[in-house]
Amino acid sequence: MPSIQLEINTGKLSGEGVITAQKKLSQLENVFEDEATRASMDQEQLIYEVQAFMPVEEGKEGGLYFGNSTIFPGKVNEEYFMTRGHFHAKLDTAEYYWCIQGKGALILMDENGKTWLEEMTPGSVHYIPGKIAHRVANTGEEKLVFNACWPSEAGHDYGTIEKEGFGARLKDIEGTPTLVATKNEMV
Ligand code: PA5
Ligand code: NI
Repeated sequence: MPSIQLEINTGKLSGEGVITAQKKLSQLENVFEDEATRASMDQEQLIYEVQAFMPVEEGKEGGLYFGNSTIFPGKVNEEYFMTRGHFHAKLDTAEYYWCIQGKGALILMDENGKTWLEEMTPGSVHYIPGKIAHRVANTGEEKLVFNACWPSEAGHDYGTIEKEGFGARLKDIEGTPTLVATKNEMV
């Protein structure tokens, strides 16, 4: 008997030890560029949901974690709903993402602020090397669902992104998802 089950069409995980966390708009203060618009929207709006199966203690070397993320469709002004994004706390650790459903973009940034994206469509597999910050935006009209696998020693560094942000933001510019560079940084 496997310890957990993956629903193949939806990417959803079930079974003992699967934890689920939700991020509502109220929990994403200062994540989007237009903070005034975010604050004026329905704070109960669910932006994303994450499931994780962490069979070994967090931080222990040699284990692997498995996750499912669902990002709901929508925008804060021109900017698509997205995850907070992070570097790994143990910086040089990699991760796989693969898209199950929907349409979106994996936004990647190196330590110099250089930012680029990979399009996510069902079946796309994304290798995120170590030292690369990662965030996902839903650019479609339905849910964007992807699975992830990462090392148990990776951890999450959200602080660097809170302070510095990414080098660009993904916006709907006349109907086209477009990376728009932020202040001093290069795309
Ligand atoms: O391990 C990952 O990188 C993912 O499971 C993310 O944690 C998930 O997509 C949510 O994004 P964030 O952790 O940036 O809020
Ligand atoms: Ni990660």
